Amino acid sequence: MFPSIVYSDRRKKLRAELSGGLILFLGNQEVPLNYPANTYSFRQDSNFSYFFGLDHPDLAGVIDLEAGRDYIFGNDVDIDDIIWMGKQPSMKEQALKAGVENSAPLKDLNELVSKAISSGRAIHFAPAYRGETILWLSDLLGIPHLELPKRVSEPLIKAIVKFRMKKEPFEIAEIGKAIDVAWLMHTTAMKMAMPGVNEREIAGTIEGIALSNCGPVSFPVILSINGQTLHNHYHGNTLAEGRMMVIDAGCETELHYASDITRTVPVGGKFNARQKGIYEVVLNANLAAIQAIKPGVPFKEIHMLAATEIAKGLTALGIMKGDPGEAAKKGAHTLFFPHGLGHPLGLDVHDLEGMGENIVGYDAEVTRSKEFGLAFLRFGRKLQEGFVMTIEPGIYFIPELIDIWKSENKLAEFINYDVVETYKDFGGIRIEDDVLVTSGGYRVLGKPIPKTVAEVEEIMRGFEDVRI
Ligand code: GLY
Ligand code: MN
Repeated sequence: MFPSIVYSDRRKKLRAELSGGLILFLGNQEVPLNYPANTYSFRQDSNFSYFFGLDHPDLAGVIDLEAGRDYIFGNDVDIDDIIWMGKQPSMKEQALKAGVENSAPLKDLNELVSKAISSGRAIHFAPAYRGETILWLSDLLGIPHLELPKRVSEPLIKAIVKFRMKKEPFEIAEIGKAIDVAWLMHTTAMKMAMPGVNEREIAGTIEGIALSNCGPVSFPVILSINGQTLHNHYHGNTLAEGRMMVIDAGCETELHYASDITRTVPVGGKFNARQKGIYEVVLNANLAAIQAIKPGVPFKEIHMLAATEIAKGLTALGIMKGDPGEAAKKGAHTLFFPHGLGHPLGLDVHDLEGMGENIVGYDAEVTRSKEFGLAFLRFGRKLQEGFVMTIEPGIYFIPELIDIWKSENKLAEFINYDVVETYKDFGGIRIEDDVLVTSGGYRVLGKPIPKTVAEVEEIMRGFEDVRI
């Protein structure tokens, strides 16, 4: 945990944003995997972590706005628990670590909430995403679970987004730690990407690196020689010369701050001319987007800059044609780059996404597009100092999408479909970094991970066979 003052300060600032009532934060519970006592690894709720820091199941935090009092509700362990878990700090001791003076058993939470409801006080809560929490909230508040999404507190959501989006220096240091471990995950994967190796050998190795150096992976590892499938979690292919391998992976620190990095490498360690051509277009888009980052610039604009770079590069390669600026405006690049440029990163790998993508990423000034491609951009509004964003352009040759567009002759004034046909066996390339918005511009976080063609080829000369 951070020092208790961090959590007290965060709650103090939150109090100033809301006018009255109770703010209710339910921590996460254990979730069964295949029978009740065999659970998934425990992961605390990120809002609970942010305001209370404690990393155990079955806790609730309450901020009483009128009384100016904070509470932690949770049960002390009994001797049966101690036999299995060992001695645990008391709830009182744990609450003090979060700077909370008042702790009480969970049953007292029901009483506090019931009293607040009967006296007509507002109960602020954020959207819930786990079945267990939804049921708990529903029971506690007497609201049918399907109605809960309509009853969430907009002022609370807005305040959470406002605070969590702006990272404090010690949070940035945590993200940096997670990226440093991602450096080891990625450079190891690069060195292992040789013909004959199976994807799962590499995916398993890098997941182990995350666990042994940091925490769990921050999302299921995406690692595939079929990188044209954006989130490919199938790890059963054997690597073969001529394919590119996408590695999209990161880890969580002990305090749950995430990294999210993507690299794409040629199997065997040497780019052929076709791979180098496409790779450098993605790299240019990644670099141009990063260099455009500064406070006040709408992220949607940076997305479009990356899209234009991609259209420019693909035009130079003869895959697209016409004016690249026009092509990007009309969305022709989305045949190859159908997703958004990036997303906020922090306690969640898609930070705050559970609070509602549009509340986090859009506002009255910058609204979400409905167009194919741009609609997938999770965040479009102006950047501010302290935001951490991923920058992850890519180029993918998705045979099924190509067939549809070609059959419709879609945007044919910008696309050389005959040339595109010859790339249907190519796969995909994505390059992703985690970038802090600073007062003067940007800082790419963490230990630099090989990215240029020369850097990737250099590290891949050090092949490591870690197989048994
Ligand atoms: N790294 C996976 C994603 O950003 O969706
Ligand atoms: Mn990402």
